[in-house]
Amino acid sequence: MSAPNVVDGPAPTGLPGAGPLLEVRDVRTQFTSPRGKVRAVDGVSFTLDRGKTLGVVGESGSGKSVLSRSLMGLLPGNAERTGQILFEGRDVSNLTPEERRALWGPEMSMVFQDPMTALNPVLKVGRQITESLRLHLDMDKSEAKETAVELLRAVRIPEPESRFSAYPHEMSGGMRQRVVIAVALACGPKLLFADEPTTALDVTVQAQVLDLLAEQQRERYMAMILVTHDLGVVAGRADDIAVMYAGRVVEKAPTRTLFSQMRHPYTEALLSAIPKLADPSHTRLNAIGGRPPDLVNPPDGCSFAPRCPYAQERCTSEQPQLTESAPGSGHFFACHFPVGSPEHTEVADQLAAKRLMSLAPPPPPLLPQPNPEGGAV
Ligand SMILES: Nc1ncnc2c1ncn2[C@@H]1O[C@H](COP(=O)(O)OP(=O)(O)OP(=O)(O)O)[C@@H](O)[C@H]1O
Ligand code: SF4
Ligand SMILES: [Mg+2]
Repeated sequence: MSAPNVVDGPAPTGLPGAGPLLEVRDVRTQFTSPRGKVRAVDGVSFTLDRGKTLGVVGESGSGKSVLSRSLMGLLPGNAERTGQILFEGRDVSNLTPEERRALWGPEMSMVFQDPMTALNPVLKVGRQITESLRLHLDMDKSEAKETAVELLRAVRIPEPESRFSAYPHEMSGGMRQRVVIAVALACGPKLLFADEPTTALDVTVQAQVLDLLAEQQRERYMAMILVTHDLGVVAGRADDIAVMYAGRVVEKAPTRTLFSQMRHPYTEALLSAIPKLADPSHTRLNAIGGRPPDLVNPPDGCSFAPRCPYAQERCTSEQPQLTESAPGSGHFFACHFPVGSPEHTEVADQLAAKRLMSLAPPPPPLLPQPNPEGGAV
């Protein structure tokens, strides 16, 4: 078993309302597969306070969704999870299915990526909201309907009274995602997982849905874990960002710090992959070279080493541990030669020089030399 991947936080007090809302300690999730155990989440720890947003970013397959599902208790039968999850100081790591269902809705809820799979296609949207209200909040039929219409209005569904009786296929993609958000918010959760909530939507609708989530979060003082592969999505919306790579958190920091003082080479690569508006080719994302590791046989040492331009011998033998850059800064990273270290700077300078050389114009063609005996050679 690899060493824990720890981001420290205050110790829980066990009293609801005091201490962090969510405390995650050394959570590991493995799947049984024909090729062996897939280490999808490999020792993640962090804390999240009420009303705050944690952005979780990383490439496809880095374990973002499995982490969210592990914390929600929504894993398939071939999964095995260890570690501790404290919600309001209460240990919810090993609840019975019934206890877990009681938690979903009023305590924590999830907005899934694809609204078509999150909604039941044969049930009217209103019913999908009222069911949860009646089950968890014990509302009668008319009270649940009234609340559902208000929720549809809150998520800006036009004509909510008549849309209450619409089927999901009668709505646009953006509207369906708003309904998914209404369903997730119905019971007033204290914690919302939003797993790529806008990937299926076009850019304008994306911004509207993210703004809506932020507005609802503020009004309800709800904490949110916003999962995305796009750092641009969390840039102005998360209080803290955790960068995941191969099932581990490799860097976590307050958002502003992460963007201005990133220390991990993978974060550096992710940031340079964000297209810049000033760049005429900004529509193209700069892909990070190489491929993420095989989670059945992850490499020894740092899992980013095969792709890291700054890797040294130590990186392939010793797994770097999450370390706080300065006590109390809340900025953690796991790298032996972080951005700003002498080793990193030396390699970065060499790479920059190489890039410059490749950009230099080719030397002019050789001019014919005069032949002392007359004529050119
Ligand atoms: N049910 C499963 N059985 C086996 N492996 C799984 C299962 N679910 C997920 N995995 C593996 O776990 C790893 C992490 O997957 P996860 O879905 O969390 O990635 P992600 O970061 O959310 O990626 P994306 O950005 O594409 O959504 C991947 O290697 C994936 O193949
Ligand atoms: S530990 Fe080494 S290989 Fe890993 S990110 Fe840091 S420099 Fe790169
Ligand atoms: Mg995912």
